Amino acid sequence: MLHLALQAKLQAAVCAVLPDADPAAILVRPCLDTRHGDYQSNALIALAKQRKLNPRPFAEQVRAALEVADLCEAVDIAGPGFLNFRVHPMALAEVLQAEALKEVPFVPKTNQPRTVVIDFSSPNVAKPMHVGHIRSTGIGDALQRVFRLLGHRVISDNHIGDWGTQFGKLLLGWKQILDRDALGREPIAELERLYKVINTECDANPTRLEEAKQELVKLQAGDAENIAVWQEMIRVSQRQFDSVYGRLGVKFDHTLGESFYNPQLGAIVGDLLARGVARESEGAVGVFSDGSLPPKSDPFLVNRDGEWVADPALVRKSDGGFNYMTTDLATIDYRLRTWSPDEIIYVVDDRQAPHFRKLFLTFARWQPEAAQRVKLNHIGFGKILGEDGRPFKTRSGDTVKLEDLLAEAEERALKVVTEKNPDLPEAQRKEIARIVGLGAVKYADLLPNRQSDYQFSWEKMLALQGNTAPYLQYAHTRVRGIFRKSGEQASGSRQPAELVLAAPDELALAKHLINFGLVLETVAEECRPNFLNNYLYELAGLFARFYESCPVLKAEGNERATRLLLCDLTGRVLKQGLAALGIEVTEQM
Ligand code: ARG
Repeated sequence: MLHLALQAKLQAAVCAVLPDADPAAILVRPCLDTRHGDYQSNALIALAKQRKLNPRPFAEQVRAALEVADLCEAVDIAGPGFLNFRVHPMALAEVLQAEALKEVPFVPKTNQPRTVVIDFSSPNVAKPMHVGHIRSTGIGDALQRVFRLLGHRVISDNHIGDWGTQFGKLLLGWKQILDRDALGREPIAELERLYKVINTECDANPTRLEEAKQELVKLQAGDAENIAVWQEMIRVSQRQFDSVYGRLGVKFDHTLGESFYNPQLGAIVGDLLARGVARESEGAVGVFSDGSLPPKSDPFLVNRDGEWVADPALVRKSDGGFNYMTTDLATIDYRLRTWSPDEIIYVVDDRQAPHFRKLFLTFARWQPEAAQRVKLNHIGFGKILGEDGRPFKTRSGDTVKLEDLLAEAEERALKVVTEKNPDLPEAQRKEIARIVGLGAVKYADLLPNRQSDYQFSWEKMLALQGNTAPYLQYAHTRVRGIFRKSGEQASGSRQPAELVLAAPDELALAKHLINFGLVLETVAEECRPNFLNNYLYELAGLFARFYESCPVLKAEGNERATRLLLCDLTGRVLKQGLAALGIEVTEQM
């Protein structure tokens, strides 16, 4: 891609002026403001400062050594020594022609592939997936798709909550008040009911609580009956998860739930004790502050009434049971031994940030060498709010089930599609509505900065105008419409003899297209899919402007062929970009 070619030339020029300079620090990036140029480099200023050179004359010297006449129309020096490059239309045309022949244009595979484990979605057994699960599931899936597209090795792992004290109550409920018919009809609702009833009883009655505990103890001891019931609960829950994932088009390489790590937990606590990482306290075992961090940034301390007191990471309860933390330590250990990842990404809401800070620090104290080799990365996100600004709920005040939400999205999309296309056969309208409705929900969830809370609004997400999935899907159908009308095949095979980029709107579109790969790289670096949303929205806008000012089918010869190629590339980037967000496109809308 052009910025890489420019970067290589700039590195060569800098090294010609300063033979001992480190070329890796010299980067070329797109200009934020395209009035200044297409690409820029800020590297010369820092370099000059390090060597106590006057940056401006230094930049002049570098520019004199730069051999980029074939790539650029102009290289400007701005301010204290920024370099701004304006690319040559011919160089741009060459890139477009070469990329058009590729299956995925504008996305070079990385030459430093990394192995990345992505832990996402991770719902709990015996509970329905609710609207909040769209966040971890959607962000995690977009990340796995982007990493894969760039050529990284991804291992996605659904760390479902299939173990823990709740199973004591569930088992008691199953044995005493299970309604078999209800279980057949709506298994998750029935499991939820069991839990709620027994939980209320336990709150009021210590004998019931003791009974539930006994069921848990039997399960933990491997009692055959309890194990069989527990497995049945996992099976029915997994069926529900799978139906949601199938609908969302989300796939996991592994689903290793919490219970998978159970056999390791005792030994891990033993090891933590033996190494002095954890210690006993009031019958429990915990990891405490080692004093290496200032109290304010030490997750093992909390401030109570102006005093810093211990807030340990508990790894064994006083009754001998293990904690969420213990399982997560075992999970890191397993993942490192099994896949040797360069990075483990946890897509989990921001309320668990303290948990992950403790987890990562504890792991580093437990296995310092292994911790050096892996980046442990909590990718947090905010809440979904209703239009009243409070946590999103149904009208009756219940949490919104994910299945219901997705069904409603498709229903509402069907209305939009039917208004636009009353004559399409129903089956086709429904299929379009499925793609548009699911796309709208996913896109709206990926669009805000992931750490901010956002307001859920059907109206906004389904709008055909604005930064929405339907708008982008519609832009894609317009491209497809052009090719239907032209009677020509879209693809790189019908290239113009000579690509002529002349009109400003052609150039602007072409320049944006070639930055697709750069945007994907930024998404991967910062784990922020919203950069891709915004890139695609801008692309659709540039395409609309181009299409308005540059007739395509009425043009002739090379001009027509050039414009068709721009249409084709726009359609493919829209499709590929949406696919990277887990969103499908259609031929018609
Ligand atoms: N099941 C957990 C929850 O619902 C999320 C698990 C996230 N992953 C992890 N490795 N802790 O809160």
